[in-house]
Amino acid sequence: MFTPAITGTGVFTPENVITNDELVLAFNAYADRVNEQNAAAIEAGDVEPVPHSSTEFIVKASGIEQRFVMDKEGVLDPEVMHPKLRERSDDEPGIMTEMALDACQKALAQAGIAADEIDLVICAASNLERAYPAVAIEIQQELGAGGFAFDMNVACSSATFGIQAAADMIRSGSVKKAIVVNPEICSAHLEWRDRDCHFIFGDVATATVLERAEDAKGGYFEVLSTRCATQFSNNIRNNNGFLRRTRPYGLEDRRDMQFMQNGRKVFKEVLPMVSAHILSHMEEEGVAQSDLKRVWLHQANKTMNDFIGKKVLGREPEPGEQPNILQDYANTSSAGSIIAFSKYNEDFAAGEYGLICSFGAGYSVGSVLVKRH
Ligand code: COA
Repeated sequence: MFTPAITGTGVFTPENVITNDELVLAFNAYADRVNEQNAAAIEAGDVEPVPHSSTEFIVKASGIEQRFVMDKEGVLDPEVMHPKLRERSDDEPGIMTEMALDACQKALAQAGIAADEIDLVICAASNLERAYPAVAIEIQQELGAGGFAFDMNVACSSATFGIQAAADMIRSGSVKKAIVVNPEICSAHLEWRDRDCHFIFGDVATATVLERAEDAKGGYFEVLSTRCATQFSNNIRNNNGFLRRTRPYGLEDRRDMQFMQNGRKVFKEVLPMVSAHILSHMEEEGVAQSDLKRVWLHQANKTMNDFIGKKVLGREPEPGEQPNILQDYANTSSAGSIIAFSKYNEDFAAGEYGLICSFGAGYSVGSVLVKRH
């Protein structure tokens, strides 16, 4: 048995930022346009007007202040309201691969290893741009990695489930060096015309290099243990499967093929599930609340994170103990906790403990307990 370690992480951040003010301006222009077109029906009481969104609501309900996206123009055009991403031919790398490569190269540089030393690539994301060939295999080729590669999808928990898969293979000896990469183009499965969720998501890609601790070139985070759990729920759902594509549909029919959620229920049901999961994981490993220097949580909602941070630490978290990045990136699905980990781990001293945790659709929750060396 070998000891798995995280030796590098990387974050690809798209160039385009959309602030809440820009987003709300576009949404309200869209709403006015639709309401104008439907003026007679609204007047007659046959159609509900599209209500306005507001920056104040977005910040209060979520803590999100801005998001990065792969295409800003389409999203902010009241006539379009979705990203306009260039179609690629079958013989050029896909957009997810392009984003993933940037994050992987940064993670490899931090680990101080060459791409051809990697013998496992897992592309773990909540939405994959195609069914096959696996996006991970394209990333493996473009990166120049060896071994094998596969895709996996556990929605927002994809990164931690991917880390568990890679860590277990390193532990058993079936692979030596792995990269888990999470390219998330959330902007393409978000309905930007739905006021109740139009502010939620952003785009990003993260990558995590794992290898045997004995091979680490510098400081590293030992993966002490991982825990994954799932429990079926329809409260966060996306029906965009291959069967749905074969039926004829109009615009309104398409709504269930994008992100759908019952946010209030998610709140109520996921919070206790996640808090209990983390606490039992720590207890089983003999790690006390006072032993944890930091928790890097999934980045969906500030109130949610404040609640979980408090439960896990047994008190109000001090600044820096439960860092959020969602104010800058919004919800980036599986990548969120890895962005937080990547940006806030340099101050760890040898022997200090931390915990990465992601959660979301499924429901699913994954936690990774790490110790600095
Ligand atoms: N602008 C202004 N008002 C808005 C609005 C917007 N963009 N969206 C909703 N509202 C209004 C609603 O109409 C409602 O008004 P009412 O009380 O008069 O009916 C009110 O604000 C509350 O709406 P609600 O949707 O219940 O908001 P919320 O406080 O629950 O916040 C979420 C919404 C989605 C931010 C929140 O539920 C959440 O984050 N849930 C968990 C999400 C999550 O983690 N999902 C996992 C995804 S991976």
